[in-house]
Amino acid sequence: MKIAIINGPNLNLLGKREPGIYGSQSFEAFFEALKAQYPQVELHYFQSNIEGELVNELQRVGFDYDGIIMNPAAYTHTSVAIGDAIAAIKTRVVEVHISNVHAREEFRKLSHVSAKAAGSIIGLGLKGYELALQFLLTRQ
Ligand code: DQA
Repeated sequence: MKIAIINGPNLNLLGKREPGIYGSQSFEAFFEALKAQYPQVELHYFQSNIEGELVNELQRVGFDYDGIIMNPAAYTHTSVAIGDAIAAIKTRVVEVHISNVHAREEFRKLSHVSAKAAGSIIGLGLKGYELALQFLLTRQ
């Protein structure tokens, strides 16, 4: 079972970035713990601050991986290209947001990803990534 986690811009700063909103754990530390908890899963992590690199990664993993967990971060609200890439690939994508985007600024309510994703997990912190993984492992 091969699952890709793809994070968008500024998520490389998790742990340092606005900890009141995003928490104090780095994604690397969370990812190590997740891999230890699910040794049966081949978990692959990719992060980029560049929109086109995120599209390239979706295209790269989107035809032979078993699932994709994606937090497109700010590009969620702006990127038609990421929405189109998710529609174009075969592998299911679960959209994750650490914070509750619906309880924040108005512009965060628009997602170019939600309608193309299998589903969205919003506002449950880093736990959202694990819940997405559990969904992908149980729902084929
Ligand atoms: C985010 C929410 C986005 O609005 C924001 O731009 C992010 C992170 C989240 O995980 O809560 O960078 O996707």
